[in-house]
Amino acid sequence: MHGINKSFPGVRALIDVNFEISHGEVVALIGENGAGKSTLMNILGGVHQPDSGTIEVNGDTTSIRSVSHADQLGIGFVHQELNILDNLDVGANVFLGREPRRLGIIDTKSISVQTKPFIEMLGLDISPDTPVSELSIGQQQMVEIAKALSKNAKIIIMDEPTSSLTLSETDKLLSVISELRGKGIAIIYISHRLGEVSQCADRVVALRDGANAGELSRDEINHDAMVSLMVGRTLERSTHEHSQITSDQKGLEISNLRTSAYPDCKVSFRVSAGEILGMAGLVGAGRSELAQTVFGVDPTLEGEVKINDETVKRGSARASINAGIYLAPEDRKRTGLVTEFDISKNVSLASLQKYSNKLGLIDNSAEEVAAKHQVKSLNIKTPSTQTPVINLSGGNQQKVVLAKWLSMKPRAIIFDEPTRGIDVGAKAEIYKLMRNLANQGVAVWMISSDMEEVLGISDRIAVMHEGKITGEIKRENFSEKAIMHLAVGGKNE
Ligand SMILES: Nc1ncnc2c1ncn2[C@@H]1O[C@H](COP(=O)(O)OP(=O)(O)OP(=O)(O)O)[C@@H](O)[C@H]1O
Ligand SMILES: [Mg+2]
Repeated sequence: MHGINKSFPGVRALIDVNFEISHGEVVALIGENGAGKSTLMNILGGVHQPDSGTIEVNGDTTSIRSVSHADQLGIGFVHQELNILDNLDVGANVFLGREPRRLGIIDTKSISVQTKPFIEMLGLDISPDTPVSELSIGQQQMVEIAKALSKNAKIIIMDEPTSSLTLSETDKLLSVISELRGKGIAIIYISHRLGEVSQCADRVVALRDGANAGELSRDEINHDAMVSLMVGRTLERSTHEHSQITSDQKGLEISNLRTSAYPDCKVSFRVSAGEILGMAGLVGAGRSELAQTVFGVDPTLEGEVKINDETVKRGSARASINAGIYLAPEDRKRTGLVTEFDISKNVSLASLQKYSNKLGLIDNSAEEVAAKHQVKSLNIKTPSTQTPVINLSGGNQQKVVLAKWLSMKPRAIIFDEPTRGIDVGAKAEIYKLMRNLANQGVAVWMISSDMEEVLGISDRIAVMHEGKITGEIKRENFSEKAIMHLAVGGKNE
């Protein structure tokens, strides 16, 4: 790609960008949220047209007219937000839109036979007729990759493929990547997880504010070098403060709670006022379901939730919000945001009462002031607070989700995977804001699959396995090993 330019209303997303990749090479594309990574790849994938610039594929200058044209050119794209259809099975997803037919009828047998080698190659232990809705996110990711391979892709773009994967799924993906590289496939890997980039990339290309910011060859790749390319200066490695709260102070207290996800388990624990409780566990351990049950969007089968010794009515999110308990959910698309609304509306959505005047009308200027403040403090990259959220980059959308909850005055707040897809600089900001909340006496419960994050900022860690809390770890005993031991169902020693 040579001299690529692309503007959206109010934004120059790409400025004279050059990018190249060879067969059998893994190139990591890094940059802060909104730097232009997805836009550049959307151009390569035929989703967007550049305003100017040229693209050569195998030496031929080509304009990539559409997604199907990119397919024909052997360019496969695993998107930041998965494109899987939940109600179809694995094979139907892999062959979506180009189903083999016999006498005009979709030949499901042939789909199944043809899908098999790809899922085997990716080490997926499932049958082609498994409904996708039964798969973990990691497995769904693999289905997307199988789809690209089945189209005979020679270049595969992976936009933040590991942001929803568990540790073992991530390892699996990294080994698949190195296998594909061995087969001569070129892989473009976008990630904010710099540790993974160090593990898998042959070369790093950095974008900053829509322009090329430099490259690193294999032996130059390390955390600090990548950060300084992305942000244009060296960032101090943040050190985190911690609180010495003992776990019997007021806050959020959960007693004998039974959720519909794990009806046979009763869960009891406390998040003390003023502490950050990190909750670790493998995907499927029931952490999100527990959070949703405590918050009241999922039904409580049995048990009690108290905030500062007051009992909170079960099964009502409204009651939780009125009691000062908030949930910043994990899936920003489904529950966190109204993407057609602008930033301001989204930030004020959950606290509309706060921005309503006596007549119940919304005070737009107060809403605006709050939104502007959050845009600034979280460094949300946008032309204005009036921009629809759908036009923001993935990481910036996640920041809006957080802004919405941080602009309220909670007594307890549950963050479910708060920094998924968020760049290094903004992560540090978010950790600071969480710590500020804790310092103001808020009980902060953070669910996270990011090991570094759980170990770095929690005051205490609770680990879940199959619906139960298998143990709690005090700060002095924090280690990756201790977490993994409990996460796979081991007992506390
Ligand atoms: N469809 C669109 N309409 C308007 N603006 C857009 C659109 N798509 C992207 N942008 C803007 O272009 C810029 C680059 O966005 P892009 O999605 O490429 O960032 P990114 O590097 O992928 O970030 P992230 O790490 O958060 O995913 C951002 O300012 C974004 O708001
Ligand atoms: Mg992106």
